[in-house]
Amino acid sequence: PAVHVLNGPNLNLLGTREPDVYGRATLDDIKTRLAEICAARGIELLFRQSNHEGDLVDWIQEAGKAGAPVILNAGAFTHTSIALHDAIKGSGATVVEVHLSNVHARESFRRHSFIAPVARGVIAGFGADSYVLALNALFDREERKT
Ligand code: DQA
Repeated sequence: PAVHVLNGPNLNLLGTREPDVYGRATLDDIKTRLAEICAARGIELLFRQSNHEGDLVDWIQEAGKAGAPVILNAGAFTHTSIALHDAIKGSGATVVEVHLSNVHARESFRRHSFIAPVARGVIAGFGADSYVLALNALFDREERKT
């Protein structure tokens, strides 16, 4: 199954949004990087962004049903959304939580995640590389299984 990369609110603004915190790469730049890595491995990539919580709930359920691993940057919903927590738990989706910024080195309200307790793992603080690290972690684990 394809790798599903799901991005939450305000991540469509990457590139111009607080570049000192989030870097200058746009979401499209990140997509291009991941697409190249997936293509080299012959793995399909589904890359999506929404500012709406319900879209993310739908997409997590979809990935769970398909047995597709998920790389999830839920943006601010990370810190607020029991619905995303429940979607991951309820659908059985394997989720790697990612953040561009080191959420633990910022405001205290970013230190709590509703995603982390139901995530396979968490990668934060490496900018766009966080996504690449998550992808490689998924591939490495997949290869060790075989
Ligand atoms: C973020 C961190 C969140 O706290 C913030 O609300 C975001 C982006 C990150 O990638 O660093 O929107 O998920």
